[in-house]
Amino acid sequence: MKIAIMGAMPEEIAPILEHMGEYATTAYAGNKFYECSYGGHDLIITYSKIGKVFSTLTAATLIERFGAEMVLFSGVAGAVSDELNIGDMIVSTSLIQHDLDITAFGHPYGYVPEGKQYVEADKKLIAIAHEVAKEIGVSLQEGIIATGDQFIADPERKGWIREVCNADALEMEGASVAVVCDVMEVPFFILRSISDAADMDASFNFDEFLESSAQVSAEFIIHMVEKIG
Ligand code: ADE
Repeated sequence: MKIAIMGAMPEEIAPILEHMGEYATTAYAGNKFYECSYGGHDLIITYSKIGKVFSTLTAATLIERFGAEMVLFSGVAGAVSDELNIGDMIVSTSLIQHDLDITAFGHPYGYVPEGKQYVEADKKLIAIAHEVAKEIGVSLQEGIIATGDQFIADPERKGWIREVCNADALEMEGASVAVVCDVMEVPFFILRSISDAADMDASFNFDEFLESSAQVSAEFIIHMVEKIG
């Protein structure tokens, strides 16, 4: 199977590329795409750059131009749930854009006509992730991820996202990747390791824990690829 692995930032895919060792590089649409074989699969690995626009472009490119049959996202997130601490992993059951707002027309946050307020991730991939977590003895939580084009470092905004979106974690790419994969009928899986708590200390903690948390997520994604039949 041709499996895409994407992150948003170089730090999020560096551990995966390091693990692969050798790969071919193709430059396209302002990104670099790295191809190799691993675990009986053809992999295409890339980072999109931060935010919903770049991640949308990248997910669509992975599917349309490179023929990805599945998209696995690896990266970091801010915790919304009090159950999530720095370095913990969360897999999204569904994703919502917290900054998508046409409530003026009576629609709920995160919804536009002909879209979905919450996009559900692939249940089979979530089940595989739980098997992997058990096998390698790590804890894996699941929950709702809220995505927006904002780095959240504000307890008030974080509280709003928790209340309105029922989110457990937040980041800046997952829901846009989810929308692309959902409409293109490509199974997807969004994994995040916590880098900060989206609070006053968020930017400081993000800088400090980006690499270590990205590594946690990347290592898990490699195990996922090995497990996918
Ligand atoms: N990704 C990691 N931490 C984040 C935060 N606090 N806000 C948005 N995206 C994030």
